Amino acid sequence: MTNVVSHRNGFCSILGGSPVSTPPRSTATLVVRRFDRERPHLLEQTEHSVSITPNKTILSALLEIQAEQDSTLVFRASCRHGACGSCTMDINGRPRLACSRLLRDEVNAKGNVFIGPLAGVAVVRDLIVDLSPFWKAYRESKPWLIRYENRAPRREFRVRPDELSAFEGADACVLCAACWSACPVTRAGRFDGPHALLKTHLRVTDPRDESPGERLRGVADDFGAFRCHGVLACASVCPKGIDVSEAVFALRASMTHAKAIGEERRERQPSLLGNAPENTEKEP
Ligand code: SF4
Ligand code: FES
Repeated sequence: MTNVVSHRNGFCSILGGSPVSTPPRSTATLVVRRFDRERPHLLEQTEHSVSITPNKTILSALLEIQAEQDSTLVFRASCRHGACGSCTMDINGRPRLACSRLLRDEVNAKGNVFIGPLAGVAVVRDLIVDLSPFWKAYRESKPWLIRYENRAPRREFRVRPDELSAFEGADACVLCAACWSACPVTRAGRFDGPHALLKTHLRVTDPRDESPGERLRGVADDFGAFRCHGVLACASVCPKGIDVSEAVFALRASMTHAKAIGEERRERQPSLLGNAPENTEKEP
């Protein structure tokens, strides 16, 4: 016999039975902040209704809107599986990869999802922002391996497990700019930025790189590692779970013994190729 029904904390339960959750929503409204810097007077917000399916991502929803509702909506995306870093945007107030967030997880109690361009970055149009300062800082960090003898090795580098663990994870960065957008110091003015400092840390700890001392001197100025205020916003938003702030702190610690790191790196080079002189290898 059905008798008493109670409603508590959003659940409907029949006394004596188990809690029954409210049925999941079948549609969501994407509320999108729009902008065109060539027509700044057209600043607006558009709303688009889409169906919710178990595996639909925010990016899939945006592609659907672009194909079926509003072909003027623009955004960046490429790989659709969290590898290229190009679909970063503001989703419910946080920088996120649109292809890695499920629509059903982002929709609020009223059925809305708020989408906008990355915060703190100049907008070009709709969800596309101008990442030139981000890429400039990245290039200036010299993210490539610096080898004094400018030739490709003829056999693999032999990196020890303990050396690998020092930079493991830092190499997972997909250059999505979420940390750049979240960092209050990059917003306030000139700063190398979390992604560039992460890359410097990666190369300083990588035994294949022959220029750790130079790199450490490069981030010791007023706009480098010591400008970080330790807010930790970068680590909290990184879609790859990289503790970016930890990398910045490790970089600061390395600066105090930059000379020793440089000497150790020089001594390490001959054994990186398995103790065999590289130029004795024959071409295959
Ligand atoms: S460190 Fe994380 S948040 Fe920053 S650019 Fe790389 S992947 Fe994106
Ligand atoms: S489309 Fe490549 S990371 Fe989202």
